[in-house]
Amino acid sequence: MCGIVGYIGPKDAYPILIKGLYRLEYRGYDSAGVALLDGDLKLYKTQGKVDDLARLVNGQNVAGTIGISHTRWATHGEPNDVNAHPHYSPSGNMAIIHNGIIENYGSLKEELLNRGYVFRSDTDTEVLIHLIEDIQLNEKTDLVEAVRIALNQVVGAYAIVIVSKEYPDHLIAAKKGSPLVIGVGKDEYFLASDASPIVEYTKNVVYLDDEEMAIVPRHGKLKIKTIRNQEKTPYITELEMQLHSIEKGGFDHFMLKEIYEQPRSIRDSMRGRLNVAKGIISLGGIIDYEQKLVNCQRIIIVACGTSWHAGLVGEYLFEDLARIPVEVEYASEFRYRNPVITEDDVVIAISQSGETADTLAAIQLARSKGATIIGICNVVGSSIARATHAGSYTHAGPEIGVASTKAFTAQVTILTLMALSIADKKGTITKTRYHQLIAEMDAIPAKVEKTLKVNDCIMAIAKIFQLSRNFLYLGRGYNFPVALEGALKLKEISYIHAEGYPAAEMKHGPIALIDEEMPVVVMATRKGTYDKVVSNIQEVKARKGIIIALVTEGDTIVRNMADHVIEIPDTDEILVPLVATIPLQLLSYHIAVLRGCNVDQPRNLAKSVTVE
Ligand code: G6P
Repeated sequence: MCGIVGYIGPKDAYPILIKGLYRLEYRGYDSAGVALLDGDLKLYKTQGKVDDLARLVNGQNVAGTIGISHTRWATHGEPNDVNAHPHYSPSGNMAIIHNGIIENYGSLKEELLNRGYVFRSDTDTEVLIHLIEDIQLNEKTDLVEAVRIALNQVVGAYAIVIVSKEYPDHLIAAKKGSPLVIGVGKDEYFLASDASPIVEYTKNVVYLDDEEMAIVPRHGKLKIKTIRNQEKTPYITELEMQLHSIEKGGFDHFMLKEIYEQPRSIRDSMRGRLNVAKGIISLGGIIDYEQKLVNCQRIIIVACGTSWHAGLVGEYLFEDLARIPVEVEYASEFRYRNPVITEDDVVIAISQSGETADTLAAIQLARSKGATIIGICNVVGSSIARATHAGSYTHAGPEIGVASTKAFTAQVTILTLMALSIADKKGTITKTRYHQLIAEMDAIPAKVEKTLKVNDCIMAIAKIFQLSRNFLYLGRGYNFPVALEGALKLKEISYIHAEGYPAAEMKHGPIALIDEEMPVVVMATRKGTYDKVVSNIQEVKARKGIIIALVTEGDTIVRNMADHVIEIPDTDEILVPLVATIPLQLLSYHIAVLRGCNVDQPRNLAKSVTVE
């Protein structure tokens, strides 16, 4: 949710900043801007994407070895040129970029308005930079101190970077709630919302903690202190990210690349954790808390969006295999409804980005009640990863497409390993079944690889249904979350209205929608509730609905009933989500491409939702 990039060093800042913005564009793409200091503080910004900014700046003077830049997902004020970041201070001597929300901006603004300040934009960010300059003038302090005092008055979330004419050899940054990484190069520093704009220049990074400020010099050492004025020693860590993992690698879109990466990302998420020969699952990151899971009375899974769907698969897995009651909660609801949480509960927080504000707040609430928190995150060092007691990273690699694909299957992979491992330790699964399941788990990457071969068949189906206005997705058991995820994917990137439903629930409402224009995607894989799903297909056919069925290889019963059939390899019922999700991702991808939608950056969405 908003991407920020800053640079200070010997090189021209603009090319580094604009390239960084392209890398962070998945975080928001309503407007973009850049401020460069070269004696003068020049500011260029525009509604639209980073491409629009690049066009605006083309031919202008972009000199300057210090600068800041921003790509925005609007929270306060519509996404127009004026509300785009950076924002000037009243004197024009400073500019700020901000990711987050200043919640008390209304009262702060009123006070500043009463004192005669004039605002150009509707943003909370402009209020913050006005406040900082006001403090600097009134309290006759230096900039660092003014920022520190201002941040003590602010309620909300922020990752900010400030450039000032009066301090041409420093950038000032701070963070709370929103992420900020500082790349430490040789005689240069990079600041960004995540490491992707930094990785090609340096692998050494410092992750700022909440309520920390960084004083980033052109020459010399980075200084960090808290907003309570405590000095901190910068802790440099080495990035594991590889440059090729954040590039399209010959695919038309990041989403397609990420769909095709799944055999590898699922394998990587199991690597070093699953040893079939020895019959061992070992999740190093949670080893110290495994006994808590074994003994817990209940698991509460908190997440948002696609991660919430992975959580639903987790519910089936833990209840089925480990016989532990599970509740799956939308983090945003959980945190506001005074939930009953005890010290015997284990909370599993699932988040690709590790930055989702609601999930983070749900964790903080559960922690304050004494629950044990286990994280499943994709981004190493992210806020959620750091807020948990223990966790397992999904080694999916950076996910750039806004619609989540490989992160989902990696999350389900980790949940499956966890549930199997706990089930084995609790003795709620027979040894034979355990060994059979881990062997089948090991075979999943190859089965996903094989599933990807349905691409041509799906492209043909996508052509037929590209103009549909509605879709229904039906599934039962382990396939119910898959149906929800399939519908979400289609909505997100093609803007076609789609509903996911438990197949049997259809007759309690959605059946009224079925007519000869309604494509119904049915998960009809053999095993589990196959016979029941066959009956549900009959119910749809009786009302002239169009059936697109996802079936197990070799199926003949559903094939004879369905209008279109997509075959996937056979696997155990509990592992079906890892395979069945793939064709649904491809279906939404191809429909979105045919409709001319921006697949990687769907309208109104952002990948990392750092506001509530
Ligand atoms: C946003 C993204 C979704 C994602 C959700 C949760 O809405 O567009 O793709 O599933 O946030 O994000 P998280 O990073 O916590 O998994």
